[in-house]
Amino acid sequence: MQAVGETVGVIGAGQMGAGIAQVAAQAGYRVLLADVGRERAEAGKAGIAKQLDRLVAKEKIASGDAQAAVSRIEAVDGVAAMPECALVIEAATEREEIKRAIFKDVGAVLGADAVLASNTSSIPITRLAQASPDPARFVGVHFFNPVPVMGLIEVIRGLATSDATVAVIEDFAARLGKQVVHANDAPGFIVNRVLMPMLNEACFALGEGVATIRDIDLACQLGLNHPMGPLTLADFIGLDTCLEITRVLFEGTGDPKFRPAPVLVKYVEAGWYGRKTGRGFYDYTGETPEPTR
Ligand code: CAA
Repeated sequence: MQAVGETVGVIGAGQMGAGIAQVAAQAGYRVLLADVGRERAEAGKAGIAKQLDRLVAKEKIASGDAQAAVSRIEAVDGVAAMPECALVIEAATEREEIKRAIFKDVGAVLGADAVLASNTSSIPITRLAQASPDPARFVGVHFFNPVPVMGLIEVIRGLATSDATVAVIEDFAARLGKQVVHANDAPGFIVNRVLMPMLNEACFALGEGVATIRDIDLACQLGLNHPMGPLTLADFIGLDTCLEITRVLFEGTGDPKFRPAPVLVKYVEAGWYGRKTGRGFYDYTGETPEPTR
């Protein structure tokens, strides 16, 4: 198995990028963390320090280990600092033009053997690879939220992705203690192909008056032994993201079974994206989330 090297670049210091940076630093990698400007990268690093402090308070990790992990993360101005990285992971906003612009910038500095990976949850890897410096060294690495808790990485090969590139990701995932599954470059890959229709169906059930928000969630939580009900999970992921991925499934397959539920579309049109906006199927502005209907 090919080794990753000791420095990993992470582009995007939001929830997913910060989570990836955190687990990489905890695994002993030096991490260069970039976002749109140094300030956002610094804010991402500060959030990671807080997460690690929580783990120390819960006696899950030693204080010295938390400090060492934080000290391995360097918030940087942009990709200019990344020529030394053997692996660069893009975890920026899920918009193709933003990702393409990032790959162009990375292309100017990426080392000759380095791998460029995207944490996209739905954009085709083969298409994105066209904007990368070398499609053979481009791959999808799909992490799950919250990254420090979820044990899976989906590895998605584009048409041109080389075996050596996949081996680099397998090595990285092993060091992070995450399991790898391999998916072909099909809409939604594995997890979202299966998950999004369930979340979307919960929205149809709500819209058709089958049950209340509380009862749909409780039914799935207790009846299926899921950690969260589907409407809670949709709020957690972000309703805008759920709609986006559902549209990718619908358009990518042409199959009407993936058509987005009208309720999901309406909530997104209302700007009710879930936890991140304080309101989705639940209201998050009080002490505990309350169903909105
Ligand atoms: N970062 C780090 N750790 C976190 C965390 C976070 N954001 N949120 C929770 N945790 C940890 C807690 O510290 C706690 O750890 P210990 O057990 O070691 O103390 C553990 O997770 C459980 O947390 P809580 O007791 O606070 O809450 P919970 O039992 O309700 O679990 C949950 C919270 C882990 C989020 C759980 O509800 C869950 O697994 N939900 C489903 C999450 C899921 O399906 N994620 C995938 C979404 S799909 C996706 O990401 C891909 C995509 O493309 C859309």
